[in-house]
Amino acid sequence: MLDRHKFLEKNSLVLTVAILVTVAVGGAVEIAPLFYLESTIEKVEGVRPYSPLELAGRDIYIREGCYTCHSQQIRPLRDEVERYGHYSLAAESMYDHPFQWGSKRTGPDLARVGGKYSDEWQRQHLIDPRSVVPESVMPPYALLDKNRLAYHDIENKLRALRLEGVPYTDEMIENAKSDLEAQVDPFSADYDALLARYPKAQIRNFDGDSSAVSEMDAMIAYLQVLGTMVDFSTYEAEENYR
Ligand code: HEC
Repeated sequence: MLDRHKFLEKNSLVLTVAILVTVAVGGAVEIAPLFYLESTIEKVEGVRPYSPLELAGRDIYIREGCYTCHSQQIRPLRDEVERYGHYSLAAESMYDHPFQWGSKRTGPDLARVGGKYSDEWQRQHLIDPRSVVPESVMPPYALLDKNRLAYHDIENKLRALRLEGVPYTDEMIENAKSDLEAQVDPFSADYDALLARYPKAQIRNFDGDSSAVSEMDAMIAYLQVLGTMVDFSTYEAEENYR
């Protein structure tokens, strides 16, 4: 055995090939099963695709580069869990393409910011962060309040995500525009249908101005849903995730 090893160690080319073969076998053993598992993400009750309005808000979040200062991933470490709440589950970002985990925290993590503040606080904070948090270094985004939301292409956004594997149905795509409008209008006749498609979607006028759908409406709807889909009072991790 040792003699054979000597042969390997004295011939660098043979040794290189042997190393490559060994590493390739090891890699295949680790990686191959992932392709055959039904899903490598634990399914968790409550997680649903974003409603069209929330999705439009998410796109603005990406457009404005909010991810350059905010992460959306609570790590399973005590200080983070005490500050932000239950650590993030993989399933909670399974419909995020691209995911917004981020790696920079100039501002706090936003994975569970939904429901932490009122809509009016969020609006005021985005228009002028220092008016509510005097020491804030966050830039103002007052334009969101003035800009009308452009959502003529919202069906296509759902379609594109469906290609990525997000389970948007034909019905959801067909109704994307009316669902978007119904979510900011608490008096809309259509909101039962919206709720059937997107359970627990929050329906209200997010920016307090009912004359038009603004980018602020979409942004706040998105912020208010973050981290709220899973009900952690009933959630139980599977054995091997505990
Ligand atoms: C230059 C870095 C920076 C950028 C870019 C930025 N923020 Fe912030 N953000 C901060 C800082 C710092 C704070 C903490 C102080 C405060 O509350 O204003 C904060 C706080 C927040 C909070 C309150 C979080 C909490 O739990 O108290 C929200 C919500 C928020 N930002 C949303 C956004 C959104 C949405 C965008 C993009 C439109 C954005 N931020 C862009 C730095 C940034």
